[in-house]
Amino acid sequence: PQKSGLKEASPFPIGGAIEIRQIAKDTVLKKIIQENFNSITATSDMKMYNILPQEGNYNWRQADSLVSFSTKDNLRLFGHTLVWHSGTPEWVAEKGSKDSLWLAHFLKEYIQTYVGKYKGQVAAWDVVNEGFETQGGDYRKSLWFEVLGKDYIANAFRYTHEADPEAELFYNDFNLERDTSKLNGVLSMVEELKQNGVPITGLGVQMHLRMDIPNALIRESVRKMAATGLKIHFSELDIIFNTHDDTRKGGVQLYKELTPEMLKQQAAKYKEVALIYREEVPESQQFGITFWDFTDRDTWINPFFGLNDWPTIFDENLKPKPAFYGFKEGLQAE
Ligand code: G3I
Repeated sequence: PQKSGLKEASPFPIGGAIEIRQIAKDTVLKKIIQENFNSITATSDMKMYNILPQEGNYNWRQADSLVSFSTKDNLRLFGHTLVWHSGTPEWVAEKGSKDSLWLAHFLKEYIQTYVGKYKGQVAAWDVVNEGFETQGGDYRKSLWFEVLGKDYIANAFRYTHEADPEAELFYNDFNLERDTSKLNGVLSMVEELKQNGVPITGLGVQMHLRMDIPNALIRESVRKMAATGLKIHFSELDIIFNTHDDTRKGGVQLYKELTPEMLKQQAAKYKEVALIYREEVPESQQFGITFWDFTDRDTWINPFFGLNDWPTIFDENLKPKPAFYGFKEGLQAE
C-alpha cells in the first residue's frame, strides 16, 4: 500500500501532464495528483492551437481553469509550450509563410499577450519546444526557422522574459539522452544564447525513454546537460517496452503482454532515472521530474504509435505499478 506520496519522497517537484477536462471528470485521477504531485504541465491545453485557434480569438478557458486548479491544490504550473512546430495552428502557418514581417510581429505579440496575462501564475515556460530535427544536430526546418531564421528562438526567450521577468525559461526537446549529435547541437545553441545574453534559464529533457536505451548513455548525457549550469527538467518522462521508427509514426509491437519480469525491469529503470537525476544534476539545478500522462490507461503512446504499451507508473486501473515504487526508491535511496 502507498503510505506517502511521491512528492513527500522527493527533494524536488514531481509533476505530470494533464488535460483540464480529465481532472474535471475523474476523481480517482484527481486524488492521485493530489497525493503524489506538486507540479503540473498542460498536455495540450496551453499550446498555441488551443490558445489562439483563430486569428484575433484568444481562448483562455482551459488555461484559466488550470491556473485555478493549480492555485487551489498548491501545484506548480509549468507552461507548455509557446513556440512549437506541431502546436502552430493552420492559420498562423498559412499567413506566416507568406509574410515574414507579420510572423515576426505575431511572435512578439502572442508571447507578450499570453505570458503577460499569466504573469506570476506560471512558474516556468517551455519557450521553444523541439527546435531541433528529430535526429542530429540541425535546427528543425519548421515554419518558424524557415521564415525567421534561428533568431526566432532568441527572440522568443527575450519576449517571454520581458512579459514575466520572474518565470524560468526553458528550451525543451527529445532524444537528447540518446542522440549525442543532437545533444551537442542543442548544447552549442545554449552556449550561443547565453553568450548573447539571452534569458534562458533551463533545459527541458523530455525523456520519452525506451527500455533498451543504456543507462550509462543516459547518465553521460545528463552530466553534459548539467554542465551548462541551467536548471534541468525531465519534462515528459515515460518508458516504453516496444519500439517505433524515428519518424515517430508507426510502432513495432515487440511484446504481446506485460509480464511480471517486465514490470520488474521497468521498475529498475524508473529507479535508475531518479538516481541519475539526483546524482548528475546539482541540487540547485534540480527543477523537477514530470511524467507524461499518469496512467497506462491514458498514455499518448498507444494512440500515437498504434501500440499497446505500458509506459507509465500507474496501470490501466489507476493502481501504482512496480515502476511507481521503483521510482520512489530512487528518490529516497541514500
Ligand atoms: O480532443 C480531440 C477529440 O475531440 C478528437 O475526437 C480526437 C480525434 O483525433 O482528437 C482529440 O485531440 C487530440 C488531443 O491530443 C487531445 O487528446 C489530438 O488529436 C492529438 O493530436 C493531441 O495529441 C497531443 C500531442 O502532443 C499534440 O498536441 C498528445 O495528447 C500529447 O501527449 C502530445 O504531447 C507532446 C508534447 O507536447 C511535446 N513532446 C512530445 C509529446 C508527445 O507527442
